[in-house]
Amino acid sequence: MASPDSTLFDKVVNLCKRRSFVFPSAEIYGGFRSTYDYGPLGVLMLRNVKDAWWRSMVQLRSDVVGLDAAILSPPQVWEASGHLENFSDPLVDCTECKTRHREDQLEDPNICPACGKSGTFTEARAFNLMFKTQAGPVEGAGADVYLRPETAQGMFINFKNILETSRKKPPFGIAQVGKSFRNEITPGNFVFRTREFEQMELEFFVPPEDANEWYEYWMQERHQWYLDLGIPEEQIRMRPHDEDELSHYSSGTSDVEFLFPWGWGELEGIANRGDFDLLQHAKHSGQKLEYFDQGTGERYVPHCIEPAAGATRSMMAFLMAAYDEEQVNDDTRTVLRLHPRLAPYKIAVLPLSKKDTLLPKAEEVLHMLQPHFMCDYDITQAIGKRYRRQDEIGTPYCVTIDFDSLEDDAVTVRERDSMEQTRVSTNELVDYLTEQLAL
Ligand code: GAP
Repeated sequence: MASPDSTLFDKVVNLCKRRSFVFPSAEIYGGFRSTYDYGPLGVLMLRNVKDAWWRSMVQLRSDVVGLDAAILSPPQVWEASGHLENFSDPLVDCTECKTRHREDQLEDPNICPACGKSGTFTEARAFNLMFKTQAGPVEGAGADVYLRPETAQGMFINFKNILETSRKKPPFGIAQVGKSFRNEITPGNFVFRTREFEQMELEFFVPPEDANEWYEYWMQERHQWYLDLGIPEEQIRMRPHDEDELSHYSSGTSDVEFLFPWGWGELEGIANRGDFDLLQHAKHSGQKLEYFDQGTGERYVPHCIEPAAGATRSMMAFLMAAYDEEQVNDDTRTVLRLHPRLAPYKIAVLPLSKKDTLLPKAEEVLHMLQPHFMCDYDITQAIGKRYRRQDEIGTPYCVTIDFDSLEDDAVTVRERDSMEQTRVSTNELVDYLTEQLAL
């Protein structure tokens, strides 16, 4: 088993700031704790993670449709889902140093990790993790709304709409990618646990008797998705939940876990939610949330299998897994060995020099590639330094325009991992790169 590497964490966090993947939010005001902004490269990579998920979960399937539901939602949704009653963490205060902690995360439930004193904790109380705000100009009861703590409920409350309009029947799924909000007591470890984050969730509705089979199916599919995108086998595992860990809605859950520098951490949960959510929303809304098969006259409440992943957390895992340093001659080369689908830029176009004679040709090549690939264009510093800069942000291919290009209408294509260089004619360049990238 690979062992946790704590310096890797600092290196990746530094790289994220230095190369504009992730910035601490509101930094000019001293920062806003555990909240992050995704910079020019981060926004590209995060979008690639979400697109890779959407491609695999929606685009390549005929049994899943998409949804983009509202973030603001009325209390009835969260009363029915059980979140108002159950979505809480046990919170204790240290009477000595006035710090707050999650009781279930303490190494020793009697010792305060901040001041080291023993027996200074208050009784644990349930702290609800949902952010509450108000809609409209009138405060008080009736105006309360919640920021969703998961995207999942959007799928359950739209089940009827989608069933009636999409001509789908179980087994079928509804997929959604979007922001969720939780007032975490102990956010931390960079973007691993934040109060605002992005989820990628599928609610897959199946005939009750097929639920276990689909649960197994989704566990395998989701495990494979991370492997296909380059996470090494020894850094990813499936972990079934113990009985006492299960959420209030789940009859079985397994987590996909990644070996972070501090140990194993959850990337995704695959849960067998049974008929809990549809029954609850049917009860609270007074609407029938069931499937009626007109052919057979059969009527039932589908069971739901839910693969629920974190986009921001997965992006962090992909970065950690891709980070590498290798010795090249007397130099240390930092390289992000990202899967091409996840890399912020697919191609960097680099004229060998800033000379006026080369730039028009380089720009012509850039404009030819831009409709096909996300490209960077860099004309500053020596070519060797520019290659290193692209290695560090994971760009799979660099295309160099040199003085020979003006004569032979060909360019040099350099591959990131092997650093091998190939001469390619510009009129074959798009096809060549399309084949190499295999997006
Ligand atoms: N609908 C089920 C659900 O929301 P969850 O295990 O609470 O399940 C799913 O969340 C995924 O969302 C987690 O596996 C994790 O990747 C991500 N996630 C949850 N809380 C998070 C947080 N505070 N910060 C970043 N990601 C989070």
